[in-house]
Amino acid sequence: NLIPAFILIIAYLLGSIPSGLIAGKVFFGIDIREHGSGNLGATNSFRVLGKKAGAFVTAADILKGTAAALIPLLFLPEVHVHQLLAGLFAVIGHMFPVFANFRGGKAVATSAGVLLAYSPWFFLLLAAVFVSMILLTKYVSLASVTAAVVAFTYAVIHTIYTSDYPFFAVVTALAFFVIYRHRANITRLRNGTEPKIGSAKK
Ligand code: G3P
Repeated sequence: NLIPAFILIIAYLLGSIPSGLIAGKVFFGIDIREHGSGNLGATNSFRVLGKKAGAFVTAADILKGTAAALIPLLFLPEVHVHQLLAGLFAVIGHMFPVFANFRGGKAVATSAGVLLAYSPWFFLLLAAVFVSMILLTKYVSLASVTAAVVAFTYAVIHTIYTSDYPFFAVVTALAFFVIYRHRANITRLRNGTEPKIGSAKK
């Protein structure tokens, strides 16, 4: 059956849409990967391009994941695993975008979008953790890593009760991607050199 492969390719291409690059190029004539943290993500879009463009990129990067995880509903009767896999491929596209020299973001917003499509309550739980951590610490990176750790912990507990192994595998992969892509941020957090929200660029 070619449909699942087709869906995964579409999901990867959707995830590859570099909204931060597009917003920077179209409205400011710059590549945000040459500014701020150098990351092609929502946080650096806020940092480099301001609130309006930042909000646009955040919404677009979340929606890429949501849209990808909804595609299987259009084509397949048994959607559970394919929704998760399509979401995973969208996040891989976001991190390694074919439309932006494979230099993409840190997997946070697009992973959140996947979970929004798959399990809105889980999304809301993680969004609450993320926002609380930002308000408490003013570090977006720390909020992202904390949400990833909570997501993994939830997946472990959920799997003990439900034996939902595809969910466990994909959430574990997403959490790993987020943490691995933040390794430079984690080093800066430990050194005390990570910029807080609203502070000068690094
Ligand atoms: O969403 C990524 C965020 O957690 C950190 O981004 O640009 O500060 O490295 P940045």
